[in-house]
Amino acid sequence: MSDNKIPLAGVIGHPVAHSKSPNVHGYWLRKYGLKGHYVPIDIAPEKLADLLPRLADLGFVGANVTIPHKEKVMEIADLITDRATLIGAANTLIFRKDGRIHADNTDGYGFIENIRQTIPDWNPKSGPAVVFGAGGASRAVLASLIDVGVPKIMLTNRTRIRAEKLREDFGHRVQVIEWVQAGNVLEEADLVVNTTSLGMTGKPEMRVPLDGLKPGAIVNDLVYAPLRTRLLATAEDRGCRVVDGLGMLLHQAVPGFERWFGKRPVVDENVRAAVLR
Ligand code: ATR
Repeated sequence: MSDNKIPLAGVIGHPVAHSKSPNVHGYWLRKYGLKGHYVPIDIAPEKLADLLPRLADLGFVGANVTIPHKEKVMEIADLITDRATLIGAANTLIFRKDGRIHADNTDGYGFIENIRQTIPDWNPKSGPAVVFGAGGASRAVLASLIDVGVPKIMLTNRTRIRAEKLREDFGHRVQVIEWVQAGNVLEEADLVVNTTSLGMTGKPEMRVPLDGLKPGAIVNDLVYAPLRTRLLATAEDRGCRVVDGLGMLLHQAVPGFERWFGKRPVVDENVRAAVLR
């Protein structure tokens, strides 16, 4: 980008119309009075390799990446951060002035910052975590929990083999628990995270018995539609400290926005309200 051009960024997906990212970035651009635009970009999988490098020519300084492109962009990017490599997917791209595409993954960062902002006295080293699910979101959660020093992560997934694969990738701090046994280990957990789609509007409810949840434990659902899932409602009733999934979406957007538009945005109630509208 030459310095007099208005920077463009966007979210690349297929489909992409449902993405909340344009609301988030659009709100911050207005709030800080910055020049720039953030748009949804629908690119079909077979066209990604061809179109991605051309976005920079059109004035794009970067982009977020969502389903189904988060793994594929790793093959197209020229530079990949360690955390994106570890997670095996990228969600944030920077189109550098030298033409190279830089790929990062800020999902784990967003996940951690969301808990830290909601529960400022959270001590990740205090005890074990239970994580439900072994998809892409779970990889980002595991990588970041290990990074901040959670001593043990009990990972449970309907399809056990996917959890076993994550244990191979992330090592001895991850212990695989049978899906049907998950309720029995909840009493050990200081932190419980749902990374599955269970409880999302239009999806089945989470059926794991929750009566083992420890009062005072932190319970985070990555599902944000609805904002208050049954998991969070039950956890709150049991005296747990709950963290909803919208904050992760907001916090993961911070590094990209700062890089593209030159201002580090603040995650507060106003941006939450703007996204929920
Ligand atoms: P994401 O990238 O968002 O994590 P994903 O890779 O499709 O998405 O993973 C979805 C997660 O939700 C998986 O852990 C999946 O379990 P399986 O690996 O057994 O498919 C979990 N999930 C989805 N529907 C589920 C259901 N009805 N019961 C239990 N787990 C479910």
